[in-house]
Amino acid sequence: MGSRIRAARAEDVAEVFALECKVQEAPHWPLGAYMEMVEARPEAVRRCLLIAERMDKPGLVGFAVGRIVEAGDEPIAELESVVVAEEARREGIGRALCEAVLDWCRAEGASNVELEVRSLNSSALALYRRLGFVEEGRRKDYYRAPSDDAVLMRVVVER
Ligand SMILES: CC(C)(COP(=O)(O)OP(=O)(O)OC[C@H]1O[C@@H](n2cnc3c(N)ncnc32)[C@H](O)[C@@H]1OP(=O)(O)O)[C@@H](O)C(=O)NCCC(=O)NCCS
Repeated sequence: MGSRIRAARAEDVAEVFALECKVQEAPHWPLGAYMEMVEARPEAVRRCLLIAERMDKPGLVGFAVGRIVEAGDEPIAELESVVVAEEARREGIGRALCEAVLDWCRAEGASNVELEVRSLNSSALALYRRLGFVEEGRRKDYYRAPSDDAVLMRVVVER
């Protein structure tokens, strides 16, 4: 089953939020935070919300969020979230979503993309390593419920 990636629109936000709520490991934000991501307001934080959907049936199977953290001469970007519905995992959708976020970061002028991930999230760590992210450090007990270290990772993207 093929899938495609595209920028989310306002009408996709409820489905993005519903998927996020079902996936414990995802960062959890209020619905309004996702709505802000699809409203192109010049004063807003520069974020992208991308979704993955099947070619042959309606409905979202994943999403990812990227953000420009530091603007200026050397903008730094962050891959903030990537989530794939359980029934659609291990098909390459997470990887395609992350690659699309990296493309967006590059287009926004960033040359480095950072992220932080729970040290016990082996699927996400494997995905990020596969994409070329390299571990740069750890923050001990950064996460709560359950307590876990944050692994800090970074990849250089060609401009
Ligand atoms: C992490 C996550 C997004 C991966 O999505 P996915 O669509 O299953 O990943 P892909 O199929 O694109 O996998 C790409 C590569 O990542 C690695 N990988 C992904 N899941 C893996 C797993 N469970 N075990 C080992 N390696 C894994 C593999 O190298 C894989 O390549 P391969 O299938 O050719 O071996 C998905 O498991 C998920 O939504 N997890 C819950 C949310 C989460 O933890 N997000 C990250 C923190 S925001």
